[in-house]
Amino acid sequence: MPANTEAIHTTAINSQRFRQALGHFASGIMVITSQLEGEPIGFTCSAFYSVSMNPPLVSFSVKSSSYSYPLIRQAGRFAVNILSADQADVSRLFAQQGADKWSAVKWQASSLGNPVIADCLLWLDCAIHAEHAAGDHLIVIGEVKALGSSGSGAAAQPLLYFQGRYGQLTPLAVCHEEIMPCRSTA
Ligand SMILES: Cc1cc2nc3c(=O)[nH]c(=O)nc-3n(C[C@H](O)[C@H](O)[C@H](O)COP(=O)(O)O)c2cc1C
Repeated sequence: MPANTEAIHTTAINSQRFRQALGHFASGIMVITSQLEGEPIGFTCSAFYSVSMNPPLVSFSVKSSSYSYPLIRQAGRFAVNILSADQADVSRLFAQQGADKWSAVKWQASSLGNPVIADCLLWLDCAIHAEHAAGDHLIVIGEVKALGSSGSGAAAQPLLYFQGRYGQLTPLAVCHEEIMPCRSTA
């Protein structure tokens, strides 16, 4: 048994400890946006991953208590706005239920009609493909219909989140190979 093993009986897991444990998984940050009856909608999200290449599917997980998600479901579509390293304020703003989220950011509608936030690293324009209940969250799967970057350029860096803090990448070594590991310089 590994050292420092903790009880893993579901009933014994303390939710604060569980949240703290999951904070060891570093992630990027996105704002999931949509528009319903001319009103932009959005919330900050880190529970996001790619599901399928063909067809192109992505997924995010949202709390059942989200104000925004029922409106996004009604719209039937959403954009994933992957935030840049200098957009921590945008992440904080869109994580506040009931806040005036839209007067402080510039955005443009995508071809599906979803808000694309200015200077995000990359955006994906999606149609809702499926939704599954999972505990106190919903797992939403979207089919990607279009994608693009909104002007930050190739030098843009992602906003990261780790153990409750924002950060950005510090590359380990110069490596241009995406799949193969970097060769040792020794
Ligand atoms: C860094 C960060 C990551 C978050 N990730 C998620 C997430 O993956 N899913 C989620 O439902 N809420 C997530 N939240 C919390 C929501 O942004 C927050 O509950 C917000 O109030 C939801 O807005 P809404 O209620 O207007 O929909 C995250 C917040 C922060 C700051």
